[in-house]
Amino acid sequence: MHAVRSIFLLHKPAMMRNDHTDDLRNILGLHLPTDPRWVDLAGKSMEEILTDHAYCEQKAASSCISLILRYPHMERLVEELAPIVTEEWGHFRQVLAELGKRGLRLGRQRKDAYVNKLLDFEKKGGTEQERLLDRLLICALIEARSCERFKRLSEGLDDAYMRDFYRRFMESEAGHYTLFITLAEHCFDKEKVRARWQEWLRFEAELMRSMDLRGDRVH
Ligand SMILES: [Fe+2]
Ligand SMILES: [Fe+2]
Repeated sequence: MHAVRSIFLLHKPAMMRNDHTDDLRNILGLHLPTDPRWVDLAGKSMEEILTDHAYCEQKAASSCISLILRYPHMERLVEELAPIVTEEWGHFRQVLAELGKRGLRLGRQRKDAYVNKLLDFEKKGGTEQERLLDRLLICALIEARSCERFKRLSEGLDDAYMRDFYRRFMESEAGHYTLFITLAEHCFDKEKVRARWQEWLRFEAELMRSMDLRGDRVH
């Protein structure tokens, strides 16, 4: 938990580091904290949230597999992402088990407006190598926002068991966020990574602002 908190603080702008008034502000660098009403809506739609969450985990595993298949020559990327595939698939299975415990089934996959809009912002064209930076940053961003939402659930749900359930996901996704940023900095000039990351953060905040607040979606 301490490590996760350190990550949050590390990515706060320097001017925010001593500000304890709102721990969720600028969490993981995100420009816009989740509307506090979201957690209440989500708490009332746990079946929907769990199904949506399961597919988020499936997509996270699939994205790592896809990166490995596109960049098999990049030793560090392959080595670091191979175990994340297992971890994300483990997350999928945990969510599936949680649905099962409640006598619920995995629903159908839904259109993921958040991820689709992020994909629109990815730089198109160029070589596979040129596209890698955005591919890593989009993964980092989805991990960061998921982590922030799981933090909300881990603090705001009425059910203590579910608060703990989501706290563990929060910690795991915080680690993945760090890994994607570290990989980006390993593969590209740090200044270039920082500049593009800021563009992603700005875009994501606008996107969040423009989207309806839905209790049946993780994002
Ligand atoms: Fe995950
Ligand atoms: Fe993750």
